Amino acid sequence: MSRKHGQAALRISPLVVIVLLALVALLIAGLAWRESAIPMRPQLPVAFEHADHATEQCAECHHNFVDETGGGACYNCHKMSPDINAQMETMFHDFCRDCHIHKRHEGEDSGPVRECSLCHTQEETAVF
Ligand code: HEC
Ligand code: HEC
Ligand code: HEC
Ligand code: HEC
Repeated sequence: MSRKHGQAALRISPLVVIVLLALVALLIAGLAWRESAIPMRPQLPVAFEHADHATEQCAECHHNFVDETGGGACYNCHKMSPDINAQMETMFHDFCRDCHIHKRHEGEDSGPVRECSLCHTQEETAVF
């Protein structure tokens, strides 16, 4: 009786081990994929040159330099954080365009407001 049980347990255990190993491998693969998928390049390339924005204060855009949210480039937080990731498109459109509109109203040089292709150029110069 007890001997039969022992045999059954021995026969099953390698399968259980294999299934568990496979699950762990899947989990690791899934986490690795998530890491590589989240900060990936934008679907649309974006043109942004600091040289065009030399008249502006760094902290005007790099709010994290002063508000102690943390370090790194925009995408470190805006793409990695599940809290704000989904707002990327609207947040950055508002951000870039509001200043350009404001400058245009003041009669100063400004960047594009509505012309998609002036920001989303063929040539990608920035990775958000
Ligand atoms: C002033 C510059 C600017 C203009 C003009 C602009 N965009 Fe964007 N757009 C951006 C920035 C910056 C982002 C954020 C980059 C990112 O998501 O990686 C963005 C993100 C996007 C995204 C999300 C892409 C992604 O990979 O997350 C779409 C879609 C998009 N824009 C479409 C448009 C369309 C359509 C227009 C014209 C109606 C337009 N944009 C005009 C700057 C601009
Ligand atoms: C008009 C907005 C704006 C201003 C002003 C600005 N930046 Fe940036 N900066 C950005 C954006 C948007 C990015 C991310 C896009 C990119 O990859 O270039 C960035 C990226 C950077 C990066 C990160 C690059 C990397 O790959 O890690 C550094 C460092 C930086 N800026 C420094 C500065 C400093 C210093 C100043 C002031 C002298 C400044 N910026 C002014 C918008 C701005
Ligand atoms: C260390 C993390 C971090 C970095 C780096 C960072 N941000 Fe943010 N940003 C945030 C968080 C968190 C919020 C949301 C704050 C909130 O909901 O009040 C935010 C909000 C914003 C907003 C919306 C502000 C508003 O009033 O709605 C803009 C625009 C913005 N960030 C632009 C940028 C740009 C441009 C860069 C890079 C030059 C950048 N951020 C870098 C964390 C970061
Ligand atoms: C605080 C104000 C401000 C913000 C924020 C800002 N810009 Fe600008 N941008 C300017 C000004 C001013 C110019 C005009 C510079 C000139 O012509 O000398 C400009 C010019 C540009 C140009 C045109 C360059 C050319 O060749 O004509 C592009 C593209 C651009 N910005 C993209 C962006 C993107 C993308 C963002 C958001 C990530 C952004 N800007 C955020 C002020 C701003």
